[in-house]
Amino acid sequence: MEVISTIAALRARLKEEGSIAFVPTMGNLHEGHLNLMRQAREHGRCVVASIFVNPLQFGPNEDFDQYPRTLDVDCEKLQDLVDVVFAPAVKEMYPVQQTVFVEPPPVANELCGAARPGHFCGMATVVLKLLNIVQPDVALFGKKDYQQLHIIRQFVSQLNLPVSIIGGATVRAADGLALSSRNQYLTESERAEAVFLSQTLQAMRMAVLQGERNYGQLQQQASDALTHRGWIVDYVSVRNQSDLLPADENQPELVILAAARLGKTRLLDNVEVVIGCESDIIPPPIER
Ligand code: PAF
Repeated sequence: MEVISTIAALRARLKEEGSIAFVPTMGNLHEGHLNLMRQAREHGRCVVASIFVNPLQFGPNEDFDQYPRTLDVDCEKLQDLVDVVFAPAVKEMYPVQQTVFVEPPPVANELCGAARPGHFCGMATVVLKLLNIVQPDVALFGKKDYQQLHIIRQFVSQLNLPVSIIGGATVRAADGLALSSRNQYLTESERAEAVFLSQTLQAMRMAVLQGERNYGQLQQQASDALTHRGWIVDYVSVRNQSDLLPADENQPELVILAAARLGKTRLLDNVEVVIGCESDIIPPPIER
């Protein structure tokens, strides 16, 4: 595995490669990222990972400075999984002040975009730059950032980029908490509470599978339950998988998304639900 930090050296290294599978990250890698790297191997002869904490996608009061940077440990984890790690400095990615941006679709102003103005524009801009630099055949992103994945699919399709986008399943801790680099900001007691987010989404999913169609009420109840336990809720929302607009009753393929803060940590999670997929209903445990 090689670590490369300049665009010119990366381009020279990848010139002769047949098929390239690419996993962009901001580093501080966990099992969710490593799973994407393993999946990438199925799609490309050469697997490239990038590690770049992108300043454009952080707001002025967000955690850009604090975001964990663990390049050496990350490279150790990637040693046997990828062929090339692209780890540019900020100056390499943005040698001049960025004045050309990707304008993401309107859904970028909802959900996480409502709480983080400009975030998806900064994210889409760096992802487009990285795709242009690496020129992969396939690029993989985690489904934990569901809205991000949706927006990437939109601009890749609308800007006719010659790359296939693949979503990787969310990897969870044993108690169900979705893995995230930001989980390490949680205190011990917050970590114990954090599982309530995925439990809430699972309970909503069960309710929908059992016939609940009053999504407004379902969202409100979930949001109230989180607030009652001390969470600051950004949103809990039932949406169509296809366009991420608020779910309409006739749509069978839904996704329930939530973002909420515990202390200083903002956590995200989501679950997909397909109505009519009876095998999705897990019977309640038998009480003895
Ligand atoms: O999901 C992330 O880690 C980042 O948003 C991404 C896609 C690497 C762009 O900076």
